[in-house]
This record gives sequence, C-alpha cells and structure tokens, in this order.
Amino acid sequence: MTNTMTLTLERKDLMPGRQLIGAEWREAIDGRRLDVIDPATNDVFASVPDGSAADARAAVDAAHAAFPAWRAVPAKQRAQIIKRWNDLVMVHQEDLGRLISREQGKPLAEGRGEAAYAASYIEWFAEEATRANGDIIPAPVPGRRMFALKEPVGVVATITPWNFPAAMIARKIAPALAAGCTVVCKPAEDTPLTSLALIKLAQEAGVPAGVINIVTASRERTPEVVDVWLDDARVRKISFTGSTPVGQHLARRSANTLKKLSLELGGNAPFIVFEDADIDAAVEGLMAAKFRNGGQTCVSPNRVFVQDKVHDAFVDKLTARVGALKVGPATDPGSQIGPMINSRSVEKIERHMQDAVTRGAMVLTGGKRLVDLGPNYFAPTVMVKADATMACSCEETFGPVVPITRFMTEAEVIAAANDTPFGLAAYFYSTDVRRIWRVAEALETGIVGINEGALAAEAAPFGGVKASGYGREGSVHGLDDYLHTKYLCQGQL
Ligand code: SIN
Repeated sequence: MTNTMTLTLERKDLMPGRQLIGAEWREAIDGRRLDVIDPATNDVFASVPDGSAADARAAVDAAHAAFPAWRAVPAKQRAQIIKRWNDLVMVHQEDLGRLISREQGKPLAEGRGEAAYAASYIEWFAEEATRANGDIIPAPVPGRRMFALKEPVGVVATITPWNFPAAMIARKIAPALAAGCTVVCKPAEDTPLTSLALIKLAQEAGVPAGVINIVTASRERTPEVVDVWLDDARVRKISFTGSTPVGQHLARRSANTLKKLSLELGGNAPFIVFEDADIDAAVEGLMAAKFRNGGQTCVSPNRVFVQDKVHDAFVDKLTARVGALKVGPATDPGSQIGPMINSRSVEKIERHMQDAVTRGAMVLTGGKRLVDLGPNYFAPTVMVKADATMACSCEETFGPVVPITRFMTEAEVIAAANDTPFGLAAYFYSTDVRRIWRVAEALETGIVGINEGALAAEAAPFGGVKASGYGREGSVHGLDDYLHTKYLCQGQL
C-alpha cells in the first residue's frame, strides 16, 4: 500500500513555484526546474526552479542593493515588520503545517508544531531587534569618549536543511532581519516549498524588495550556487545547518573573503540513564528526544547508555513504549512516525542496523523497513549490546533507532559520551544533585538536557562545540551572530 497525501491549502498562492529575487518571483535564469518528491511514496508532486550560479549572483546583487536602505530602517520599524511576519505565520499555521508534512514527511501534528516553533523564533527576534544595544566605555584618559556600536554585518547567506524546513529558516533569517542584514537563502533540495511559503509571508508582512532573496536548487546545482556566495566578498556571513564535512568546506572556502560563520553541524548525542534516575521520566524523556521527527534531528539521542542496576527495567519499559509507536503517513492523525526523508536515508539506517547486528547487537523491537507502508518507512527500533565499534555509535543514524549500551561507572560513561568528534547535545537522568553538576560540567557539548528530553526553545542558545560547529541560534546570542562591534573613540572633548 502506498499513501499519497493530498495537499489542499487554504492559500494556494503559498506555493508560488518561483524563486524570489529582488521584487520579482521568477523562474531560474535558464528555465530549469527541480522536482519535489513525496517522501511517503517517492512520487513527484510539485516542482520549483532549479537555480544556478547566475541566479545566485542575481540574488546577491539584489541583497547588496537593498542593504543600505534596510539597515537605515529604525529598529522599532524593522521589529514591527518581523512581528507581522510572525503573526502571518501563525494565521497560516495549518497551511504551513501541511506543506511541511507533505514535503518532509513528519506527522501533521508535528508539521503544525514546527510552524509554531518557527514563529516563536520570528517573534523572539522581532523583540530582540530593538535591543541591539552597544556600550559606553569609561575612557582611560581625560578628554575622550569611547563607545561600542552594534552594526549589521551586511549580506548574509543562509543554507538550511530538510529536517526542519520552517524552523531552521526562521531562526536564521529572523535575526538577520532584526540586525538590519539582508539575506540570500537556499533551502534544502528535498524541502523547498515551505521556505517559499515562509518568504511569501515575509514579503506580505512588509519586508522590502531585495531584503530576502531565495534560490532553490537541486543537489547537483547546490555547489555552484553556494560557491558563488562563498567567493563573493559582498556576502559577509554564512549561516549553515547541516553536515560537518559541508561545514568544513564552507569554512575553508569562505576563508578567502574571511566571512563570519555560524555552523550548526552534525551531532552524536549521548543519552545517559544513571542508577539513581527516575526511570519512568527517563523513558518519557528518551521517547520525546529520540522520536521527534522520526529521529531525524541533530540533537536526537544517538547513543543510549544505561547503568547496570537499572538497565533491564529501563529497557523493558522503553521497548514496550517503542513497540507501540504508530508508523504511517503524515495524513493519518494517528501517525507518530512518518517516512524518512528519502531512500538514501533509509539505506543508511539499514546499513547501521546490519553493522550493529553483525557486531553483536540484539534487536528487541523493530529493526526493519516497513515496505507495506511505502518505500521510506523504518520501524522504530530498540537494540541492546551496542558498543563503540558500531557505525551507529560513530555516525548519526538520523532515524528511529535506539542502540543501548550497558555501563558500570560514572567515569566510564563520561569518557564514552565524550569519545566522539561531535559536541552538539547530551542528555542525562539522575536525581543526585552533586552528580548532576559534575556530569553537566564534564560533558563536552553545547547543550545538555538534565532530566529533560525536550530542549528546543527560542529563548535558549542552540549550538555545538568540537566538530558540531560554532555560533548560537535563538536567545540574545542568536542576534549577536549577525552584528559587528564597531569601536568609536571621540577625542578633543
Ligand atoms: C536540528 O535538528 O538541527 C534542530 C533541532 C531543534 O531545533 O531542536
């Protein structure tokens, strides 16, 4: 059985099917189109322009031309425009939720939730726009006054992933606008529709022509689009969410023009359950953190460590909960896990499973594709006896798979948790207050969930350390990433 989700929007024009450059919604300069694929069926259900280097250059021309006027708009007025964008996103939450679910595959309730999550960043940065305060610095000598001014960096290129097609754009573009920057953006080739809809709403909210420009491009053409932005000195900042190898390429190639970078890269999050944990809370926390978006989340627990004394009780409860998850298309209101984004993704999950089983892991539930549902569904899986040699311990699986490792001591599990090049998120459950501080400080990650699986919030600084990148999104720090500090020194006073 295959499930093709019908896509009915109240506002059909939220699928413009064109890219926005300057004031104009247009085709790619050479007219090429990119098919948009339904992850539930692998069928084509829409298309958008397949932009090239020429489109990328046109986008920078428009963003560069629009920058002086946009940075001069008073912060309060910019804030009002961004706030109107937030309001429109919430008015059209249902349509956006449908678009997100249709092109990305997450259940409709999660699609609606993501639209609201995106709006929360837009609203937050509308408010932050008026708070880009500088400093008055006490001068070390008489007759001088010294100031630090915050200024927008200039044209920003945002390159966003498919797993949160609305939220990732919102938490990059909203702070850029709030800071007074203009934007060129490229959404993931799997999920261009949500971004086009969001940008249409931004335009409707009053964002002037040229302030946001979007180029949609296929996997083959993405490098030429991004290389134009990397090489163009007028682009002053790149904000990217995606894989570590691509982040490293962006850092290397943008070195020639010394751009400011925000890189939110891969994770390999540990989830640790200590023997003094509240086991029911730990099971619920893992369910929330792991199965959000079917495990296709950078902060998704990838390695689960459970202390010897509570291992079996935790595993039994977790296996019962995971075995009861309902997998199905986004249209089915009962679905808790949708299809994975594409066939490459399911193949990677299968490879990790086969590797783990060959090396001695034991599958307790799931462990296979659900081919009756469609080509890209994978059963929620729990396996025990996982170890550090397995691919699922070294690479992000990005799917609904929970590999569990038994551990004996706190020192052993801290060493194992940190034994990865990555450092985005970590989670642990414990009721011992001394242990809580010890472990939180010992974990080498940018984000730590303590007795909590749901960490996402617009007011929190999101970002990693080590090979998970640098820069922070959300919170006051998220605005700062789009600002320079300019020092003014006035003498002869
Ligand atoms: C991500 O997967 O990169 C973002 C997840 C989140 O916002 O929680």
